[in-house]
Amino acid sequence: MFINSGLSANRSINYDLILENLKGYLSKGVPFITNLANMAAIIRYFFDEVNWVGFYLIEKDRLFLGPFQGLPACTEIPLGKGVCGIAAKDQKTMIINDVTQFPDYISCDACSKSEIVVPIIKNNALFGVLDIDSPNVSRFGETERFVLESAVALLVDIL
Ligand code: SME
Repeated sequence: MFINSGLSANRSINYDLILENLKGYLSKGVPFITNLANMAAIIRYFFDEVNWVGFYLIEKDRLFLGPFQGLPACTEIPLGKGVCGIAAKDQKTMIINDVTQFPDYISCDACSKSEIVVPIIKNNALFGVLDIDSPNVSRFGETERFVLESAVALLVDIL
């Protein structure tokens, strides 16, 4: 599998590798949580300047921590609270360039400076969110939005 090919200095190559690896690893033949675990690892491996990659999964009106890579994180987030809860409630991707300027930000790792959250939605039903933190401000832009929304689309295909 491509995961052993090593990190490239070229972000666009790494982004291609994320999607290629996901196509190789994601499978309908294993429990869904297994796919989430590998997806967090793949994104963490190929994405530079990130300190946390993981999932929060919806249960009633709360998001609960799912598979992740990084420091231990808060275990539950109410729908509509924090970046994750807002992205989940509004069902749209949120990019926060500087978390210190976002009043509703929930801090889990003091190193985190910017964040992107992509909702996971199938047939209008919310499943959860993909959450990624960076130790640098303004780490996530439109390219990252495209790559991560494409990655989540691959996941949704096997939901
Ligand atoms: N910052 C998130 C909380 C989750 S951690 O970043 C892992 C938020 O505001 O929802």
